[in-house]
Amino acid sequence: MIGMFDSGLGGLSVWRELTRLLPQEPVLYLADRAYCPYGGRSAVDILARSEAITRYLVSQGARLIVIACNTATSAAARELRRRYPELPIVGMEPAVKPAALQSRSRQIAVLATRATLKGDKFLELKAQYDDSVDILPLPGDGFVELVESGDLASDHAHRVVQRQLQPLQAHAVDQVVLGCTHYPFLSPLIETALPSGVEIVDPARAVSLQAERLLHRHGLASLSDKAPAHRFVTTADAASMSDFLRHVLDQTAEVSTVELDVGKI
Ligand code: DGL
Repeated sequence: MIGMFDSGLGGLSVWRELTRLLPQEPVLYLADRAYCPYGGRSAVDILARSEAITRYLVSQGARLIVIACNTATSAAARELRRRYPELPIVGMEPAVKPAALQSRSRQIAVLATRATLKGDKFLELKAQYDDSVDILPLPGDGFVELVESGDLASDHAHRVVQRQLQPLQAHAVDQVVLGCTHYPFLSPLIETALPSGVEIVDPARAVSLQAERLLHRHGLASLSDKAPAHRFVTTADAASMSDFLRHVLDQTAEVSTVELDVGKI
């Protein structure tokens, strides 16, 4: 079984791609909605949450973990791999490489949470590409809250997205990388706010392909040809998560609430 987690509903954009690619794999998805958003939290707190969640997912039978959250990947992936050397862990990578390859203007933007944009992982990635492409960091302030409240299309949502993308007007960016897993749910709004010709790059499929490779490499792929029962758990707000699953992803699976023992947090 694959265990996936995010601060909330955003990682479901990765769940959607992963289950399309691997329809026979059972997935347990955990939304840490009691602590969402992660974007304004310290790396230490995010690591503690990620550790507790990983422990829980493994206790439920997960044999491969997908960190369906850029912020948690940035704050915790390295340390989780050190603490669980036997456990294959797939993290989110902002898709800078494909965007840089496709960019004609040599200017790309990475739209992500402030925590991701100031994390070492992003700064290292940016430095790696500095010679070949200009990377504009663009914080998606307010986007996570919109998705968590199920507001994917209101006038208010439109204004929030427009405001955050405003800096693009002063740049010749032609690729916008979605560096937060919540943002694909706002893609229709993002598209309308972008100058024409700008493309959106979402790493969800590349991450799912990496999960598939690791499943095979570790001999963990499911041998069943029956459609599996997916499970969804959350640390808060199970009812609104069910609504989101039903209305946005067409899933009628039940969502249960779980409490995680994280010691001092
Ligand atoms: N989906 C998370 C990410 O990819 C959202 C972060 C947050 O909770 O602020 O970064």
